[in-house]
Amino acid sequence: MRIILFGPPGAGKGTQARLLEEREGYTQISTGDIIRSAMKNETPVGKEAKAYVEKGELVPDSVVRKLAEGAIADEGYDDFVLDGYPRTTQQAEWLTEFGAAHDAPIDVVISLEVPDDVIVDRLSKRRVHTKTGDTYHLEHNPPPDDVDPAHIIQRDDDKPATVRNRLAVYREETAPLEAYYEARGTLVTVDGVGGIEDIYDRITAALEAA
Ligand code: AP5
Ligand code: MG
Repeated sequence: MRIILFGPPGAGKGTQARLLEEREGYTQISTGDIIRSAMKNETPVGKEAKAYVEKGELVPDSVVRKLAEGAIADEGYDDFVLDGYPRTTQQAEWLTEFGAAHDAPIDVVISLEVPDDVIVDRLSKRRVHTKTGDTYHLEHNPPPDDVDPAHIIQRDDDKPATVRNRLAVYREETAPLEAYYEARGTLVTVDGVGGIEDIYDRITAALEAA
């Protein structure tokens, strides 16, 4: 199955995509993770992306398109969860064309609905592991005791001013994609507020129904 996990920053896309990978065997394709890894390794893409990510702006469509399409091709065009792609109408249209060209259309778009106050709490208390990429929340999902605290950091773009800009960019450029996928009949909305396991159960139920 080909799945998009859609939603604002902090909606829990990464958390849920990881669980779908661990438990259901889908591969998580996170353009955010790919970009952060490129930035860390100072590749040409990483160097180009850095200024955008740090301001909470979107990286240019043409750059992200190559990353996403390359990752989908690497997965054999199936059994993946897109996390953070597409994010603009142009990206969505390219993805539709790409799916048609490879006989691999998106089957379902799960939209996680989370209000702004919950998002700000989640992002301000998010911590990530520098080596494994595991994501934690200081209250709801704290790093286990056996994890070295030296490896637990806050993402640079989780600072309050950048979070505000990411939310504004989401509303302006990404939220309209809900209507795009609704019109195509693939959109399913899921309440993204509640415990991580409860939300996981809602998502898997939606996938079974799709
Ligand atoms: P990206 O990394 O994709 O960031 P994002 O979309 O802003 O989403 P986040 O990763 O912040 O949130 P999430 O939904 O994954 O939530 P998480 O599971 O971590 O993109 C970063 C940047 O890269 C962009 O700003 C842009 O510059 C660039 N980029 C990426 N893709 C692009 C594209 N397609 N086009 C252009 N540019 C692109 O959860 C958040 C927190 O909440 C965690 O602490 C977690 O533990 C906690 N949490 C999760 N679920 C729950 C729950 N149910 N209850 C309590 N806490 C919870
Ligand atoms: Mg994420």
